[in-house]
Amino acid sequence: MTKRYTLFLALLAVASCTTAVRHDGPVYLDPARSVEERVADVLPRLTIEEKVALTHAQSKFSSRGVPRLGIPEVWCTDGPHGIRPEVLWDEWDQAGWTNDSCTAFPALSCLAATWDKDMSLLFGRSIGAEARYRKKDILLGPGVNICRTPLNGRNFEYMGEDPFLAGKMVVPYVQGVQENGVAACVKHYAVNNQETKRTATSSNLDDRTLYEIYLPAFETAVREGGAWAIMGSYNLYNGQFNCHNKRLLLDILKGEWGFDGVVVSDWGGCRDDDEAIFNGLDMEFGTWTNGLTGAASDSYRNYHLADPYLQRIADGRAGTKELDDKASRILRTIFRTSMSPEKHFGSFNSPEHYDAARKIAAAGTVLLQNNGALPLNIPDGGKLVIIGENAVKKMVVGGGSSSLKTNYEITPLEGLQEAFPNAEIIWERGYVGDTSTSYNKVDTGQDLSESRSPSQLLADALSAAEGADAVIFIGGLNKSKGQDNEGTDRADIVLPYGQDAVIEALSAAIPSLIVVNISGSPVAMPWADKVAAIVQGWYGGSESGRALADVLTGAVNPSGRLPFTLPKALSDGPLKTARQYPGIQEEGSKWWQEYYDEGVFVGYRWYDKENIPVQFPFGHGLSYTSFSYDNARLSRKALACAGSFPVDGGNEEVLKVSVSISNTGGLDGAEVVQLYVAPPAGDVERPVKELRGFEKISLKSGESGMVTIPLTRRAFSRFDPDAHCWVVDPGEWTIHLGSSSADLRTCATVSIK
Ligand code: BGC
Repeated sequence: MTKRYTLFLALLAVASCTTAVRHDGPVYLDPARSVEERVADVLPRLTIEEKVALTHAQSKFSSRGVPRLGIPEVWCTDGPHGIRPEVLWDEWDQAGWTNDSCTAFPALSCLAATWDKDMSLLFGRSIGAEARYRKKDILLGPGVNICRTPLNGRNFEYMGEDPFLAGKMVVPYVQGVQENGVAACVKHYAVNNQETKRTATSSNLDDRTLYEIYLPAFETAVREGGAWAIMGSYNLYNGQFNCHNKRLLLDILKGEWGFDGVVVSDWGGCRDDDEAIFNGLDMEFGTWTNGLTGAASDSYRNYHLADPYLQRIADGRAGTKELDDKASRILRTIFRTSMSPEKHFGSFNSPEHYDAARKIAAAGTVLLQNNGALPLNIPDGGKLVIIGENAVKKMVVGGGSSSLKTNYEITPLEGLQEAFPNAEIIWERGYVGDTSTSYNKVDTGQDLSESRSPSQLLADALSAAEGADAVIFIGGLNKSKGQDNEGTDRADIVLPYGQDAVIEALSAAIPSLIVVNISGSPVAMPWADKVAAIVQGWYGGSESGRALADVLTGAVNPSGRLPFTLPKALSDGPLKTARQYPGIQEEGSKWWQEYYDEGVFVGYRWYDKENIPVQFPFGHGLSYTSFSYDNARLSRKALACAGSFPVDGGNEEVLKVSVSISNTGGLDGAEVVQLYVAPPAGDVERPVKELRGFEKISLKSGESGMVTIPLTRRAFSRFDPDAHCWVVDPGEWTIHLGSSSADLRTCATVSIK
């Protein structure tokens, strides 16, 4: 570089620097100023009416900004699997745009099943870019409610039964979304674990259960992930609605966790004027004021945080302290998103996003059982028979608010047809499930009508299967009412539409039968011993069928792991009484009451404690190769960290655990190393073991690698509800390392004093 050119560059740098610093307008419009400076500058410029207008919706998914000051509207979108189609101003139906078909990413239950934080970051970055392109400021997701019952209709939108897994997986998603200048809105806060009577049930539980099981994923999303928004849930917690639950919002979220973002109500979740003002809600959406027809001019002015709020300020029942806090949080959100100097243009439907969707869907697919039938080996000219409705049913449409309109959706049948272009591929339906194809006026365009009887369908399937090189049954649940669907729970974990009988009949005739279950929540598999291979697939989004084919053919070596237990029967689980689920109506109480009597014993914590055999345990998943675990080592043999510590503490690292993993099979693959901590016996009953670390490691055939997992003081703690703090009990602790919660390969002990 010549001297003159260097001088030119230096002058240019000084000039551009000067331009960036000099800003003649007000501070809040100066992109070079910090978010806090901008908030502090603009807040006093707003009238009370303008501040109140910030706090409630003006349409189904937007709120007013401050047009007088050039502060833009805030636009929200579902979430959490793709960017929802535009809806009409005040109706749920799609608006009929022709340019809002998005990339549909896999359901969050699939993301959780990857047990891979890099996949979560990829997911967050990709969906965040789509949200930004569509000019959305708040993405309504991800959801991290714990799978307390397999019946919960929204399990497919959540990240499984373990708070540590959900917590670690949500962080990169949130960060990836927010890199795009879009706020992730973590939902549904909190203890919202069923759809049955979701707007009328109080979840009643003790503090230990709350802090150990139901809060940690939210806490991690806020404290580690830095989430900018949180959505309150529809239900009540200990008798108060969660969108304005003082304890959850003011004491815990904004108090103990120091959350500085915005609390958004679920759509219609705000129920009371005073609580909405005083208990920590910042933005009210979706309140049922009968839309366009109910009020004289603008029905949104009937919202709790609209005219009733202004009235209360006018007559002195409310001051402006809470209003200033709400307005500051909303303005902060605007400066972090639509008015951020780092805002991207975003991108939509890019090949990279479809690639990401395919990668994540394949990485989450779980090989549950395999006696050698997989990977598929179909010779050119060979015959592959596929049976079952889920091989052809498009699943991106349906399921409630996460329903999407996508550019395309590759079904499993299409994915397999692409993978085996030279084979004869026959599809037979086998059973009829649900023939609906639309949601809020988005239609898949499929015709799923059927006139054959169940026995004819089975006979046709059996006759098609004759002489096949491989037969795959692809069934499971779908996103219709009573299945994996918002607003309804399932009645049982038995497969619907008589599928068990079809699988039994097929397996009797075809010993090498492969079963693919597509669902977002646990189903029973009473036929497991009679089939050759079982794969757990998920709602995979646009690239669903290709991703499934990748795993079935071996193009991708499966490395997904179950994010929840697959029990043998519903009655094996921890929820035994109507008090526990779905709740009871007590005399004198307006709301249904539900008691979390099982305490911290949900998922594997329950099955471990009761020693109940399960079909497939939490964390389970096979590979086409094999791995060995050797030489588990701890950085220290003894820790001096026993005793109590404050509710917001314990994040300091106290121990490093390392283990050597070798790929001992003939194929490259990835292993998920899972770390469970088992406490010494003590006075307080604790789970036999709890997940406290995991890492996915990719290894070539014959290769070895070291996995190191850090443990914090919190990893050893239990919550003491009386003292309201965490406690570490002294004694000999066992650190287990393994391939699932029931396949522990090696361990080490540490003594805590
Ligand atoms: C759901 C939320 C969703 C909202 C907006 C509600 O019914 O519970 O998850 O984000 O609607 O569609």
